[in-house]
Amino acid sequence: MSAPALVLEQVSHHFGGLRAVDGVSLTIGAGERHALIGPNGAGKTTLFNLISGEIAATSGRVVLFGTDATRLAPHRRAALGIARTFQITRLFPGLTVMENLLLACEALDRRRLVMHRPVAAYPDLHRRAAELIERFALTAIAREPARHLSYGDQRKLDVALSLAGRPRLLLLDEPMAGLSAGESRAMHALLDALDPAIAVLLIEHDMDVAFAFARRITVLHQGRVLTEGSRDEVSANRSVQQIYLGMGAEP
Ligand SMILES: Nc1ncnc2c1ncn2[C@@H]1O[C@H](COP(=O)(O)OP(=O)(O)OP(=O)(O)O)[C@@H](O)[C@H]1O
Ligand SMILES: [Mg+2]
Repeated sequence: MSAPALVLEQVSHHFGGLRAVDGVSLTIGAGERHALIGPNGAGKTTLFNLISGEIAATSGRVVLFGTDATRLAPHRRAALGIARTFQITRLFPGLTVMENLLLACEALDRRRLVMHRPVAAYPDLHRRAAELIERFALTAIAREPARHLSYGDQRKLDVALSLAGRPRLLLLDEPMAGLSAGESRAMHALLDALDPAIAVLLIEHDMDVAFAFARRITVLHQGRVLTEGSRDEVSANRSVQQIYLGMGAEP
């Protein structure tokens, strides 16, 4: 049996007196699809930052693929096989779609040569970027600067970029946010078609979308795990109904 992709043991992060993440334990098996839901300010993005290493845990342990990563910098965690998207897309606006992907493939390719050569000189990087462009239906806009893309296409490119380093654990922070119904369906199909070997932790506001994607769901509220379980268990939970549905989410 391979080690779980992620184990969090009693992880906390305090911003001054605010316990943004407060004693969270969570295990995500290899290839598992897991959703993280919860109202605004519940601590979801902070938890992602703790997993990817953007911020350090105040206490607790972060274990990635069986390796204690609690004190590792973000690039060391990326090298273990973790990738993420950001709630606010981070693209190079002046570079084309293809150039953004080539850069990501080059930066994240763990077999990268030490010697410097122009990015275009690596045929395997080109192959990898071209494959992602095709898979994410970005062919028609491959030569467009990223700043010319629609918001929906920027989100798609953001997810494509996160796959450049062939991660085994992917953290997606509200990839559907701000998308039209059609774009959202397209994104959904792309996520469903991801390699089943990749474990995915998806932050999602909309409970229906989370339920459609993941077999197991964790509900975060005020930095703590309110409950975790299957879609039936979570939707039957009275606290979830009161706290989450009561806060204006779609019924
Ligand atoms: N850098 C920071 N400094 C101080 N407080 C912060 C910081 N980042 C987040 N917080 C606070 O921590 C809490 C959790 O924020 P977080 O962004 O993790 O919530 P979230 O669940 O991702 O919310 P949303 O659904 O709105 O994205 C909030 O009260 C937020 O104001
Ligand atoms: Mg957030």
